[in-house]
Amino acid sequence: MTAVVNSSGPQAGALHIPAPVGLLAELTHRCPLQCPYCSNPLALERVANELPADVWVDVLKQAADLGVLQLHLSGGEPTVRRDLEEIVTGAAKAGLYTNLITAAVLLTRDRLEKLAQAGVDHVQISFQDTEPANADRIAHYERGHAKKLEAAGWVRALGLPLTVNAPIHRQNIESLPAFIELAERLGAQRLEVAHVQYYGWALKNRQALMPTRAQVLKSAEIVAQARERLKGILVIDFVVPDYYARRPKPCMGGWGRGIINITPAGKVLPCHAAESLPGLVCENIQNRSLRDIWLSSDAFQKFRHTEWMQEPCRSCEFKELDWGGCRCQAFAFVGDMRATDPACGKSSFHAAFADTAHGEAASPPGPFVFRNPRASA
Ligand code: FES
Repeated sequence: MTAVVNSSGPQAGALHIPAPVGLLAELTHRCPLQCPYCSNPLALERVANELPADVWVDVLKQAADLGVLQLHLSGGEPTVRRDLEEIVTGAAKAGLYTNLITAAVLLTRDRLEKLAQAGVDHVQISFQDTEPANADRIAHYERGHAKKLEAAGWVRALGLPLTVNAPIHRQNIESLPAFIELAERLGAQRLEVAHVQYYGWALKNRQALMPTRAQVLKSAEIVAQARERLKGILVIDFVVPDYYARRPKPCMGGWGRGIINITPAGKVLPCHAAESLPGLVCENIQNRSLRDIWLSSDAFQKFRHTEWMQEPCRSCEFKELDWGGCRCQAFAFVGDMRATDPACGKSSFHAAFADTAHGEAASPPGPFVFRNPRASA
């Protein structure tokens, strides 16, 4: 049964609002890696604007009171924060299940042990490829791959569950079988095979990253076979690229339905790219309670439920399954944030959307554009 929280605010109307399950806390935008598919915004938050640990601890308590069960500590790279242990301790006290999402290149065994003692329950490490030279080229970080392997070993030695995150694109897609072997070898419980989604910085590198449709279909086949073979041993999540989809994904599980995203400076967002939507006012946790923002802020109410939908979404039989797809993608491609997600076959922009992917995948990839211009040179 879905938990609900009732609103006393006038804007929530008679509709029940589900309690959020997950909180994605972007503790910082600082990151030692330069991944060309970074989903953080083009303009990163400055260190001086990052919320201090005591504010985060209070936010986490509010989140638990609201119904949140899982906390994802993310960035940027969360381990650049020296006060991370304090935040993790606060999460544990609030009773949250804490997942540390890390690039792992800055971790030491000692630090990881301290974080585990403070209350980290699970670690997710991203790998850019299985072939070290290509992995380090993509992340633009020397010896990064070797460091990740070492850190993954510490995670397992400390008895923590491990997820291997494998962002997939045209420059590493042929390594998919090796990614599966890597996850098995590391003793991971979960492998996330995530075709790159084109938001934030990733959009700048779309041509350099876009695989062909045939490669995507092949990757789905490989995942299906591995799932069968590794049943009960390794869970494999598979995120397909929207550009080759026929049906849109229920982005964030539906707008304002289960996930809250908080930026390093405290802006509370319905999704990580919400700030790209013009006119959407995302409130700051320093000015209003998380409960109020979740239940009745304009940003969370804007695309909640189905009343906001236009045709063909409004009369679509899938509208309560995909919740209209992704608002940020609709705006980025169609120029209208209420439009049907172009990933949907019913969108009048769907053919142009798919053609973009086919065209870019068939063109030479070109060089990556890294955030640090010196890295791109
Ligand atoms: Fe914003 Fe999908 S990323 S709704």
